[in-house]
Amino acid sequence: MKYINIQSRSVPALGFGTWQLRGDTCIDSVADAIEIGYRHIDTAQMYENEEAVGKAIAMSGVPRDELFVTTKLGLGELTPDSVRRTTCQSLDRLRLKYVDLLLIHWPDESVPLDETIGAMNALRDEGMIRHVGVSNFTPTLVDEAAQHAQLFCNQVEYHPLLSQARMREKARSMGFMLTAYSPLARGNAFDKPVIKELAKAHNKHPAQIVLRWLIQQEHVAAIPRASSSHHRRSNFDIFNFELDDDQMRRISELGGDQRLIDPEWAPAWER
Ligand SMILES: NC(=O)c1ccc[n+]([C@@H]2O[C@H](COP(=O)([O-])OP(=O)(O)OC[C@H]3O[C@@H](n4cnc5c(N)ncnc54)[C@H](OP(=O)(O)O)[C@@H]3O)[C@@H](O)[C@H]2O)c1
Repeated sequence: MKYINIQSRSVPALGFGTWQLRGDTCIDSVADAIEIGYRHIDTAQMYENEEAVGKAIAMSGVPRDELFVTTKLGLGELTPDSVRRTTCQSLDRLRLKYVDLLLIHWPDESVPLDETIGAMNALRDEGMIRHVGVSNFTPTLVDEAAQHAQLFCNQVEYHPLLSQARMREKARSMGFMLTAYSPLARGNAFDKPVIKELAKAHNKHPAQIVLRWLIQQEHVAAIPRASSSHHRRSNFDIFNFELDDDQMRRISELGGDQRLIDPEWAPAWER
C-alpha cells in the first residue's frame, strides 16, 4: 500500500468505493476488500449502505485505528441540526464511535457554508469525526470553505479523461487530499491508445495503469468500486510497478473534460 501524508495523518492512497453496493452484496464486497488489504472505505448517507459497510467492518476484526472510513452528509442535511442528527445516525449504522472523514457530499447554497462547517467542526472537537472535508466543491467553493475549517479533503471526479489540474494545484498548495472518485471513468479510458500501450508494456490491465497514475500523484487518493472480487484484487495489485515521468505525463496529457457525474444539483463547474 502507498500512504499519503495529509496534515500529519497517514491515509491509504487506494480506497474502496461502495456506491451502488447494497445489502448482502455490499457486506460481501467490503468484507472481501478488507480481506484483500484495503484499509480505506468510502460510503455516504445517500448510498443507503452504511449499515452493510458497518457490518463488514465489524466482521473483519481489523483494529479500528487501522481503517480510514469516510462518509458524507446527504443532500438537504446541511443545517447544523441535520449535520449532528444525521452524523449520529451514520455512526449508529456504521457501528463506529467516529468516522475518519466527514464530507459535505454536494455544495448547497441554500445553507450558509459557515453554519454547516461550524457544526462539522463541533463534531470533530467532540471526537465523532476526525477530519472535515468536502466533495464536488469547485476551486471557488474550496476557498470559501477553507475560511471556516482546515479542509482535509475535496473528493471530486478525477480520471484520465477529466483534468483536475487546478484542483490538484490547490490540493498541493493548501495541503489537502484530492480523492479521485469514478477513478476508472467506469471503463471509458481503457481503450485510449496510450493506456493500452502502457498496459502492454507493464503487463498490467488498463485499470491498473489508470489507478497507478492517480496514486503516483502527490496528495491524490483513488477509490475505485468493484462488485467483483476479481476486479477488487486486480485494482489492489498496483504496488509492484511504477510509471516513469514520461509515462505519467503522457497520461496526464489526455486531459479533457469528460465529466460522467453531473446531476441537476451540481454546482457550476469551473475549468
Ligand atoms: N462524491 C461523489 O459525489 C461521488 C460520486 C461518484 C462516485 N463516488 C465514489 O467513488 C467510487 C467509485 O466511483 P464509481 O463507482 O462511479 O466508478 P469507478 O470506480 O470509476 O468504476 C466502477 C466500475 O468499474 C468496473 N471495474 C472496477 N474495477 C475494474 C477492473 N479492474 N477492470 C474492469 N472494470 C473494473 C466496476 O465493475 P464491477 O462492479 O463489475 O467489478 C464498475 O462497473 C464510488 O463507489 C463512490 O464511493 C463519489
